[in-house]
Amino acid sequence: MTSTNPTQNLAAVLESPGARLKVLPRPIPKPGPNELVVRNHAIATNPVDWKIQDYSFAIKTYPTVLGSDGCGVVTEVGSSVTKFKKGDRVTGFGAVIYNDNADHGSWQTYTVLKDIATTKIPDFMSFEEGSVFPMAMATSAVALFTILSVPLPTGSAPTAQKSGLLIWGAASSVGISAVQLARNLGFKVFATASPAHHQTIKSLGAFEVFDYRDANVVEKIVAAAKAAGTPISLGFDAVTEGKQSAEILVSSGGKRGKLCLALEWDEKEPRPDGLEITQTGALRAGTDQAEMGKWFFNEYLEKALQDKSIVAAPEIEIVEGGLASAQKAFDKVKAGVSGKKVVVKVE
Ligand SMILES: NC(=O)c1ccc[n+]([C@@H]2O[C@H](COP(=O)([O-])OP(=O)(O)OC[C@H]3O[C@@H](n4cnc5c(N)ncnc54)[C@H](OP(=O)(O)O)[C@@H]3O)[C@@H](O)[C@H]2O)c1
Repeated sequence: MTSTNPTQNLAAVLESPGARLKVLPRPIPKPGPNELVVRNHAIATNPVDWKIQDYSFAIKTYPTVLGSDGCGVVTEVGSSVTKFKKGDRVTGFGAVIYNDNADHGSWQTYTVLKDIATTKIPDFMSFEEGSVFPMAMATSAVALFTILSVPLPTGSAPTAQKSGLLIWGAASSVGISAVQLARNLGFKVFATASPAHHQTIKSLGAFEVFDYRDANVVEKIVAAAKAAGTPISLGFDAVTEGKQSAEILVSSGGKRGKLCLALEWDEKEPRPDGLEITQTGALRAGTDQAEMGKWFFNEYLEKALQDKSIVAAPEIEIVEGGLASAQKAFDKVKAGVSGKKVVVKVE
């Protein structure tokens, strides 16, 4: 089933907790005053999609439409929207995971986006490329600017940061977004990933990349940061391996470092004394950190995509079959991906 009929909205609907996705028609949603409707051409999968489906959290209202990453063309804007107009090519972070409103889920032909969570994409960027980063970038922006308290950049040139920055899990969607952002903010980034991804991660801004399976990875990163003259007191663990990230910060930057995690700290592990450990939350870019989120999506990201200081990453893997393959895409991400973003095209 495809969506070539412009008056029809097809959605990969989650009818009840734990159900498999089913493609069903839904009304084309209407935008609120500060919202826009986007006709998606590409939708990307995030781990939270299958996690909500399997573990039933964040959503109370069923049936629902999940999805945080959709990219396409604006078809309607709300009465207070000034930044966007009909016909703009945009990407955006769908709000369904925090407003429980199925119209704001990306896994459908037409999605409502908040204007503060939307970015115009450059003409040279494909919809597939544009779909890969809204959630990963929101997660990284909250990690760096809110949790690690990095000041928002004022000029276009990066200011050299005193501390090195650890990014554990840099081949993940979140990690590769954080690497690019951190490089633009002037950090020397010390990253971990499987060796197959080291070259890509370096080319996107990491200073040095280490194999996280190396038994001496902690000692090697601490030594490299010392040799570079930038001990690491700030870290973002994009996959929440946790313990080793904490050890690096304590050994390298001393006890007063800050570690941001993508998921919760495993409380079975003792928290190292003095190290501030906090979880990031992508949704904060649209809630209590909405001012930062608006700046990030409406200004910073648009410019960074245009000047290519942020590019689409990781590599895209298309799952053929359109919305009917949404479940296949969820299952693929659940089974585990390595340096890939799983994307579905909406014809
Ligand atoms: N808090 C939030 O708001 C938020 C938002 C988005 C995502 N998340 C969570 O953050 C995590 C990452 O999400 P994602 O979309 O970026 O995932 P992803 O792209 O699916 O992550 C896959 C990558 O994780 C890497 N990895 C797995 N185990 C690792 C380890 N022990 N050390 C280093 N790297 C490891 C793998 O690296 P290699 O290929 O190099 O082996 C793989 O490329 C997920 O748990 C997700 O649910 C949280």
